[in-house]
Amino acid sequence: MNEGNLPLIRRLEEEHSLPSEDYERLLAGRDEETARLLAEQAVRLRQEIYGNSVYIRGLIEISNICRNDCLYCGIRRSNTRCRRYRLTPSQILACAEEGYGLGFRTFVLQGGEDAWFTDTRLCSLIREIKARWPDCAVTLSLGERSFESFRRLKEAGADRYLLRHETASPEHYARLHPPEMSFENRMRCLEDLRELGYQVGCGFMTGSPFQTVANLAEDLKFIERFRPDMCGIGPFIPHRDTPFRNEPAGTVDLTCYLLSIIRLIVPPVLLPATTALGTIHPLGRERGIQAGANVVMPNLSPVSVRKKYELYDNKICTGAESAQNVSDLNRRMRSAGCEIVTDRGDVKMV
Ligand code: 5AD
Repeated sequence: MNEGNLPLIRRLEEEHSLPSEDYERLLAGRDEETARLLAEQAVRLRQEIYGNSVYIRGLIEISNICRNDCLYCGIRRSNTRCRRYRLTPSQILACAEEGYGLGFRTFVLQGGEDAWFTDTRLCSLIREIKARWPDCAVTLSLGERSFESFRRLKEAGADRYLLRHETASPEHYARLHPPEMSFENRMRCLEDLRELGYQVGCGFMTGSPFQTVANLAEDLKFIERFRPDMCGIGPFIPHRDTPFRNEPAGTVDLTCYLLSIIRLIVPPVLLPATTALGTIHPLGRERGIQAGANVVMPNLSPVSVRKKYELYDNKICTGAESAQNVSDLNRRMRSAGCEIVTDRGDVKMV
């Protein structure tokens, strides 16, 4: 093992925190043995809090229409080759109905920032879901909105909100986004969601263009401070119709290393083994679970639109990624020492 890593791991275990420079050291000095030890500690902490349960979320991709123009994203506004779609409320309810039968007790409504989904329309949809399946959690992942909008959606019954911060460095943020998008507004949204009583998820891509070890250390310091209930991290994967088409993808190894570190920083955090991780490697999700993740989010969207929600090239949506295939997913989770459970899977914050 890289000399110097062991004391860093011990300190992280004890204090759930490191100075920025030490995160940088731990990241720059990444080696196999350190990764193995971090994963072992991360899995031990996960077991203490959640046992061997893996929570599943039914992901319903409600619209790929987006007003934003993020440089990395395949559904960015200026991608004219993207075939746009929007699900109707009755299509969304049909997805939830099927998902309930498959054992899902959390529905994630995810989409681009599509103005059709006004507060009024979303609130009536959320109320309908909560009325029909009162034992289910509703998670929203619909981008930046006003405090008042977040408040209305919460009042209608939304339980959780996922909004990746993308990067905790304002300078890095500016290189991944067009000038009209603001780092401050993104952070404002996360604070608003927290204040309103949502279970809040932040997150970032690993290996995104221009990302440095110092940027990643900032992400980890942000996670220490914000203590998210959920944290979505996955490798950046280029999309052929974006300005980053020729940039290299992130790796399974760096993603898993960060998953383990984040588990050590916030032991009860809900950590998904993301679709992007499953896309860059056939055993990516299993590797994520073995690094300390405890959530998977199979695709519950209508099969006819799945290929259109293409955030990056070759995004997987079949096999274990398909909600209809819970048994294949469970087989994979068992191979990683875990078991899928039918449960809302709320965070066990301590
Ligand atoms: N590669 C990996 N992840 C991506 N996302 C968007 N584009 C890509 C890409 N090219 C992630 C972003 C966003 C979430 C919906 O998907 O982090 O927040």
